[in-house]
Amino acid sequence: MTQPLADMRRDYTRDGLTEANAPVEPFALFTRWFEEAVQTEQAPVEANAMTLATVDGEGRPHCRVLLLKALDAQGFTFFTNYESDKGRHLQANPFAAMTFFWPTLERQVRIEGRVSKVSHEESDAYFQVRPLGSRLGAWASPQSRVIADRAELEGLLKATEQRFSDSQPHCPEHWGGYRLVPERIEFWQGRSSRLHDRLNYRLVDQAWQRERLAP
Ligand SMILES: Cc1cc2nc3c(=O)[nH]c(=O)nc-3n(C[C@H](O)[C@H](O)[C@H](O)COP(=O)(O)O)c2cc1C
Repeated sequence: MTQPLADMRRDYTRDGLTEANAPVEPFALFTRWFEEAVQTEQAPVEANAMTLATVDGEGRPHCRVLLLKALDAQGFTFFTNYESDKGRHLQANPFAAMTFFWPTLERQVRIEGRVSKVSHEESDAYFQVRPLGSRLGAWASPQSRVIADRAELEGLLKATEQRFSDSQPHCPEHWGGYRLVPERIEFWQGRSSRLHDRLNYRLVDQAWQRERLAP
């Protein structure tokens, strides 16, 4: 290791987050921070990449990186294979958490809530704007299953290409969107000497309550 882990640290001094510059509901603040992340984070950081945590039927947590693909007043939408591990977890336990990390801005956003499938029409509308290779991949890849080797995957893709040689691939039933409807959204802005700003929004009786958390 080139640098001892105990010596790896960075002081965060770029910005602050105060009650005075945060709205009373979190969607406007998320949208503002997201837009700033899109403008500020440099490639290859993808501003819409986030870590999604799910819990399996035995209460064990699992997390992985996904891309946020839609945001509206209802919630935060991502697309995946419904028969994947995460799909099976969400079937058993519909609660999930997502974390965005925007390192240049020294910001993190944590979102927690209940997840449900979007309509097949909504999934199909997004599926149709994906590149052909991604659409074929959604048909070809049995996501999260064990496969023998790379050749098996390429064979599955070849068979899928043949199947759709005369037609456009439509959205498979086993693929689509999930929308997380938030009950908690926390905005974290790094500050100097680990005295970070944390504004937490909680949905209480259909209204957002804002509170400051100790760092
Ligand atoms: C930057 C990045 C973006 C990703 N985006 C997605 C995505 O939008 N949908 C998806 O199903 N998997 C995506 N993945 C792959 C997932 O991290 C994961 O490997 C896959 O969904 C299988 O997870 P599971 O076995 O827990 O269900 C992405 C991975 C990375 C690193």
